[in-house]
Amino acid sequence: MNRRSFMSWGTAGVAALCSAVGVSLGAVGRFLTPSVFYEPPQTFKIGKPADFPFGSPTFLVDEKIFVFRHREKGFAVASAVCTHLGCTVKYFQSDQDFHCPCHGSIYSANGTVLHGPAPRPLNWFEITLAPDGQLRVDKNKIVPPTYRLMV
Ligand code: FES
Repeated sequence: MNRRSFMSWGTAGVAALCSAVGVSLGAVGRFLTPSVFYEPPQTFKIGKPADFPFGSPTFLVDEKIFVFRHREKGFAVASAVCTHLGCTVKYFQSDQDFHCPCHGSIYSANGTVLHGPAPRPLNWFEITLAPDGQLRVDKNKIVPPTYRLMV
């Protein structure tokens, strides 16, 4: 083996070694970085009170909540997540109840289970008025179905 051949093999070897070390460090870095699913914020503003009509609830798709506005009783917010396996329930104004399309659970207007397999009532969340005049919902704070915000 002459000197030129030896140098080219040496350079290739060093390049291969650097590449292997780089791949290994990348794998170690990936292993040390936690795999986290980021949840959407649990406290959020949904708009001004005047944005919500009286009568039928307003369904907010991204937040998966129903915002009820009663003329005398004020605001209330119900979860649209079925307590069985998490499907999105629908509200029927005519019967004033919630139906889950996945396995047939039915909830009354206050969220209690009328027909299973749902194991628990729907959650109701705290709704408050923020200093800027917008309604703020906190999904971390479960309230009784009788909770109301008067505005
Ligand atoms: S997810 Fe609603 S009844 Fe099963």
